Amino acid sequence: MADGQSSSSGSVPGASGKWSSQEFFQTQQPPQGLEQVAKAASEFVQRQIENGRKVVLVTSGGTTVPLERNVVRFLDNFSAGTRGATSAEYFLSAGYSVIFMSRQHSLAPYTRHYSHTTNPFLDLLVDPTTHVPSDAAAEDDGDTIKVMSQHVAHLRPILKAYHDARASGYLHKVSFVTVNEYLFLLREMSRVMQPLGRKGMYYLAAAVSDFFVPSTKVPEHKIQSGKGSLVIEMDQVPKVLKPMVQKWAPEGFIVSFKLETDPNLLIPKARAALERYGHQLVIGNDLQRRKFEVVFVERKRRPRKRTTTSDSFSSVTGLEKEDYKNDDFESTWMRLEGGGDGGEGGGKGGEREIEEDIVRELCRRHDAWIQEAEDDSSSR
Ligand code: PMT
Repeated sequence: MADGQSSSSGSVPGASGKWSSQEFFQTQQPPQGLEQVAKAASEFVQRQIENGRKVVLVTSGGTTVPLERNVVRFLDNFSAGTRGATSAEYFLSAGYSVIFMSRQHSLAPYTRHYSHTTNPFLDLLVDPTTHVPSDAAAEDDGDTIKVMSQHVAHLRPILKAYHDARASGYLHKVSFVTVNEYLFLLREMSRVMQPLGRKGMYYLAAAVSDFFVPSTKVPEHKIQSGKGSLVIEMDQVPKVLKPMVQKWAPEGFIVSFKLETDPNLLIPKARAALERYGHQLVIGNDLQRRKFEVVFVERKRRPRKRTTTSDSFSSVTGLEKEDYKNDDFESTWMRLEGGGDGGEGGGKGGEREIEEDIVRELCRRHDAWIQEAEDDSSSR
């Protein structure tokens, strides 16, 4: 069967609750306007290729599963999109162009610093009716709204980076809401990025639902109450990493995330994903510790060294390598000193964000991945 997956159900798609990705894409409704979204993304990629730039697709935020066609209720998950939005900023400052594919209304690069829940933007502004004249930034000319002076130092570099990103044309945004939209868009963005070859990176930080209700089983109207408990049967969302690795982005540098709540499952599950899908790297994170601790799990590439990595990296994080006997994988823990509380916003690692270290390490690995292909072709 195409797309590297077979249905366990024989000829009826999803009969046993399991779908191959091919069955999924053949039977489920693509999002409206997909062609235009793909065209705009393709033009973006072409411009980056002409400028010799590397491009990363960052997926971010949670996906919903609508329970009705005229949606009143839906299933959702916890993700606010912090990981993706934060990482996108660091990729941009590392010289990447970014396709930021995120859940509608989730956190976005730069604006995330002023999330309405943690740092409402209006709280930064001078109230013209009560402003203190001695506050230089608070002078009100009746025409301009000003930022309170104590917030200027924080806001200025963010505002500059935000405008730079807009003016440069290096950031392209695409949004999804449902898991179906996410899957169609992921396939489309991967195809669009194919011409980049090894210069394309895929950073799959979105929290993707594992279950969905296929379109044939979604009721048109609002589910009525009054009949006692509600029983919903959901099918398993096909894992698309395998077709992605084999067909959609065969030359891409693909990084997936593995989220667990039981820390003992993190490394075994990450290794299982690498074995099953054959991509380059899994970043494992525990739900409560994700803001200040992650683990890179990957295949061993060269004879192993028992040392840690570069100085700049280990000076800001606690880094430790573990080797697993009799297998081909290695895992590298990355920790922000000081730890965090896992809440929204940064961890307790001061102003530092673990995404800075994640992105720096990924850039290094991606460059090595590009270089490897160049060395291969010149030695032929
Ligand atoms: O947004 P934050 O609050 O900052 O949280 C960040 C995060 C915890 C959501 C993020 O760091 C993370 O772990 N994202 C992946 C969560 C997840 O969906 O894990 P998973 O085990 O279900 O999926 C593993 C990988 O396969 C993911 O990269 C996912 O994008 C991909 N996947 C999942 C399902 C599916 N059908 N196809 C996929 O390709």
